[in-house]
Amino acid sequence: MSSAEDPSARVEALRRLIDYHDDRYYVFDDPEIPDAEYDRLWWELQALEAAHPELITPDSPTQRVGGRPLETFATVEHRVPMLSLDKTKTEEALDKAKTEDAMREFDKRMRKDLSREVVRYLAEPKLDGLAINMTYEDGLLTLAATRGDGRFGEDVTAQVRTIKSVPPRLRGQGWPRLMEVRGEVVLPKVGLEAINELARIEGGKVFANPRNAAAGSLRQLDPRITAQRPLTIFCYGFGAIVGGPLADTQSASIERLRGWGLPVSPEVKVLEGVDSCIDYFHDIGNRRADLDYDIDGVVFKVDALSDQALCDQRQAEEARFDSPSPFPRWAKAYKFPPEEALTIIEAVSFDVGRSGAVTPVAHLKPVKVGGVTVSKATLHNMDEVKRKDFRPGDTVFVRRAGDVIPQIPRVLIERRPVGALPVELPTSCPVCGSEVSKSEGEAKARCTGGLYCPAQRKRAILHFASRRAMDIDGLGEEIVDQLVDRGLVRDPADLYTLRLEELADLNLMGDKSAQNLLSAIDRSRSTTLARFVFALGIPDVGEASAQALADHFGDLESLMAVTSKDFLLQRGIPGVGKERAPRIIGFLTKYPRAEPAAGQELADWLANQFRPRISSKIANAIAERFPTVEALREAGTEDLRNHPHVQVAGIGEKVANQIVRFFAQQHNREVIQHLIAAGIQWPRPRDRAGAKSPLEPPLSDRTIVITGTLSRPRDEIKDWLLSLGARVSGSVSAKTDYVLAGNEAGSKLNMAKNLGVRVISEEDLHRLLTGGKL
Ligand code: IVH
Repeated sequence: MSSAEDPSARVEALRRLIDYHDDRYYVFDDPEIPDAEYDRLWWELQALEAAHPELITPDSPTQRVGGRPLETFATVEHRVPMLSLDKTKTEEALDKAKTEDAMREFDKRMRKDLSREVVRYLAEPKLDGLAINMTYEDGLLTLAATRGDGRFGEDVTAQVRTIKSVPPRLRGQGWPRLMEVRGEVVLPKVGLEAINELARIEGGKVFANPRNAAAGSLRQLDPRITAQRPLTIFCYGFGAIVGGPLADTQSASIERLRGWGLPVSPEVKVLEGVDSCIDYFHDIGNRRADLDYDIDGVVFKVDALSDQALCDQRQAEEARFDSPSPFPRWAKAYKFPPEEALTIIEAVSFDVGRSGAVTPVAHLKPVKVGGVTVSKATLHNMDEVKRKDFRPGDTVFVRRAGDVIPQIPRVLIERRPVGALPVELPTSCPVCGSEVSKSEGEAKARCTGGLYCPAQRKRAILHFASRRAMDIDGLGEEIVDQLVDRGLVRDPADLYTLRLEELADLNLMGDKSAQNLLSAIDRSRSTTLARFVFALGIPDVGEASAQALADHFGDLESLMAVTSKDFLLQRGIPGVGKERAPRIIGFLTKYPRAEPAAGQELADWLANQFRPRISSKIANAIAERFPTVEALREAGTEDLRNHPHVQVAGIGEKVANQIVRFFAQQHNREVIQHLIAAGIQWPRPRDRAGAKSPLEPPLSDRTIVITGTLSRPRDEIKDWLLSLGARVSGSVSAKTDYVLAGNEAGSKLNMAKNLGVRVISEEDLHRLLTGGKL
């Protein structure tokens, strides 16, 4: 039945389909359809609901994107209090033998309580997140609350509804009329990395660990924020259940939850006796770093519910003499050694990476974290240092999860010694002394030393020699490492003074290959300006930008003399930005009707038409530049809008600054001089200008765009065309001479047809090159 006939049936069907695929994805980890197909179902449902708002129900998957923000969280009382677990102390966790003893102790007490030789346990990871109590009534999620103090929690229903793995409606059948399900909301490790990366770029809050991030994401008054966090949940227990328990054992009950679409940890196991429990503890501990989410230990629970009840009874009897315990006696958590410790920042230094990134590093008083001694930790970047206000002398938390590099999540300000000074970014590179630059809005500071900086030297030389740059065949990583380590090459210019004996003396190098390398170096002396510019390794200047720079400036001298102004030109009408410009032009093109033709009249008309958005001052300025309505309409948004226009194809403000800065460095200018002195050369622009000489490459000055599948890899075809003197561009424009189209050519082919650009095949090209005509 189509949605036009019965939208409510279609909405219902879509919801069931989406629920089903959510299950495949989140519960069984085994999706059946590609994401795009899933998205299509989702959008169809959303569109139908938008057209028929009366069909929206709170359990619709679309409602998971988060509703309106709340003023405060309401307090709710759990029907059955949420208890916590008795767990091993930190000293026990640090000592493997003590942990094992504690497990045997627990097992001994259980065997005694239950008068049993061997007890069966349910073992599962202790998840490091936030405990949640979810109430399902008639299969529908009606309430979700945080644990709070165990009796009263906060109502986070709207937030929990945004978690994709939480079913708003239980699948299957046979669920109790009312049931409280308990579980842990966690943030997968990758999710934490992604959130923190974004926070670092945008200057938001960086979370110290997944638990903080899970809690911070869930306890958001605005559920739309929660919806953007990739939270998930694992269910491990129950509160009130109307109509009695789900099964006879903890494990079977959990299985029923899984059947109803509630996620359960895949690590849950039923074990006989304490030895298997000890093995399980160590096994999970060893795999801890590989799990997708953080765990801080393992929980063992007596599996049979009747046995749990027996324990509770014992406990109640004993409580008559003792103070009551907040922990059930039939469960116990064993913690892994903490991966967090306190220490002191002794100093902060700066490391320079192979790409020039200048990174602050904390030198710590050595401390054991998760079984490993840590004495250094990255502070990431200066924004992070300032935000967290790390200073030498500070007492800080050090954290180490799995094999990842140690992190410093936070400082204990209250322990800061008097006179501790803030960390400052050095103005010059600690390795080479070049200027250190940090652009506004960019987190990383960089050494501008480029080719000159030893920290960047090997990488700079490899880049210089790479195929698309100077194309020095045979100059690979092992060779460059040796050349730099032996002090034979300090910058790329030194390559051109290498002697055969020096090369032949390197490991992995015979006389023959030394000779070959020497010839390759020699051959690289003849190149193109674009390749040379690319080879310099100016930050952010890739191959296409290098080509654009070479085309635009024509010679190296002009390029080396550039200022920022050479790259950007302010155009348009001041006061007309990206909002007003399209509005004005859109209006003019959409509603052609009698308008005043020109001059002051046009200005007054504009001011009147767009009042109060456009002042008469702006309207006058527009009419002055575009004196008639036709001129204005033709100009279009781009000419009207006041913004910097890029002068050189693809080079925006950021790259322009990098280029100017690069050539301003004396070291870089020196290396370039040495390279030129070594005999590197390329065709000069005056050699290219004028009529084609018979010696000129056949395609010189032709711009060609490649599209579709050709007889050889695209890179090869591109090299071939370049060697024939062509310019190879990535996009079709009116300036394109030919589009070289292979099989399955797509949008570029259409574009060429629209613009009337000549489309040729590989065969056509061969014919052209062998003197034939197209
Ligand atoms: S069972 C009666 N199982 O640990 C037992 N709790 O200290 C109630 N937790 O608040 C809890 N993983 O936040 C249980 N597999 C697991 C758990 C788990 C993490 C948390 C939970 C609880 C705290 C208990």
